[in-house]
Amino acid sequence: MNFELTEEQKMILRTIREFSDAEVAPGALERDRNKQFPTEIFKKLSELGMMGLPFPEEYGGAGADTISFAIVVEELSRACGSTGITYSAHISLGGAPINMFGTKEQKEKFLTPICTGESLGAFGLTEPNAGSDAGGTKTTAVVDGNDFVINGNKCFITNASYAKHLALTAITGELEGNKEISAIIVPTNTKGFSVIDNYEKLGLHSSNTTELVLEDVRVPQENLLGERGKGFKQFLVTLDGGRIGIGAMAVGIAQAAFEKALEYAKERKQFGRSLSEFQVTQFKIADMAMKIELARNMVYKAAWLKDQGRPFTKEAAMCKLYASEICMEITNQAVQIHGGNGYMRDYHVERFMRDAKLLEIGEGTSEVQRMVISREVGCN
Ligand code: CAA
Repeated sequence: MNFELTEEQKMILRTIREFSDAEVAPGALERDRNKQFPTEIFKKLSELGMMGLPFPEEYGGAGADTISFAIVVEELSRACGSTGITYSAHISLGGAPINMFGTKEQKEKFLTPICTGESLGAFGLTEPNAGSDAGGTKTTAVVDGNDFVINGNKCFITNASYAKHLALTAITGELEGNKEISAIIVPTNTKGFSVIDNYEKLGLHSSNTTELVLEDVRVPQENLLGERGKGFKQFLVTLDGGRIGIGAMAVGIAQAAFEKALEYAKERKQFGRSLSEFQVTQFKIADMAMKIELARNMVYKAAWLKDQGRPFTKEAAMCKLYASEICMEITNQAVQIHGGNGYMRDYHVERFMRDAKLLEIGEGTSEVQRMVISREVGCN
């Protein structure tokens, strides 16, 4: 067993850590306050060649592995959770299904602009009545001549305002008495397609979360992604990869909260001693460090399994579940260590706590992860 990162992974870590410290962290507080999307940061990430990191070079990607992807998500999230989720969704939900299930022509047309950063990546699964029960899709795609005509609504869709196209699920018919759900790539400028950016969220204020409305949206049948009727399964496979991204995000935010708490505990004096001299604080800090270490190892293990082409559904669910729950706990403790100051925006830790909450919900709630794990270990 080898816990050493490869030379390429170390180089990516150095590059993204320097970039995150210099370019992403400094404006994070202001962007959160102003709900300002990190457009300039994504221009620079494109210049750094990060936007197509794990995708093949022939489509403009960098051909890196999933561990490298997890490293980039962790470092961006350590600096700014909103930047982290934008990047994670861009790669693992936007680019990945096209890379996994697209034809060569679809990849040239739709994956290349994702790799260059010309388009952000997004995907459309969730609907007002299809959240945890993702198969509850009501959106329909009816064949008319050479086209699909799509009608329906999607909600909580990351990045759609900045995406030139996205893959979404829709019912294309009936299969043995069940809904036939297919994935279809839809350019966002198609007539009848509206993106509504109007949510008021608890956190992740500078990320883009949207509703999609589709009214008689007509796209050619050649935009079918993968096999007809396999859309739901393809999206579940995609979500397995996305969950590694959310796990990495959680590690990054927890790491940021830990660093702030440690720094504050050393500086802040009460009762004539720094907080870090009290055993109650030392134990909190020790627990934080241990849980982050464990969560990071779980994320790397799931990423490694994926890179080996081995099953990783269970490990992805476990790393997402564990990392998001310890992230919530650690950010909460970081606020506690900061006392009254922790409740104030300028100290950053309240933002970490608000951002952390989404990680227990998005890309499958903690309850859904427990369903997935229990099924994987043999419960029916
Ligand atoms: N990989 C491959 N196939 C899988 C799979 C996986 N991980 N999980 C299930 N399948 C297969 C099953 O074997 C089954 O196949 P058969 O029909 O051939 O037997 C089929 O897919 C259906 O599976 P289930 O019967 O298990 O499906 P279910 O309806 O019981 O749902 C679920 C399972 C785990 C609850 C699933 O619905 C789920 O993960 N829900 C959460 C969805 C989620 O994470 N949503 C967040 C999306 S994020 C978003 O949309 C916004 C954004 O931009 C971030």
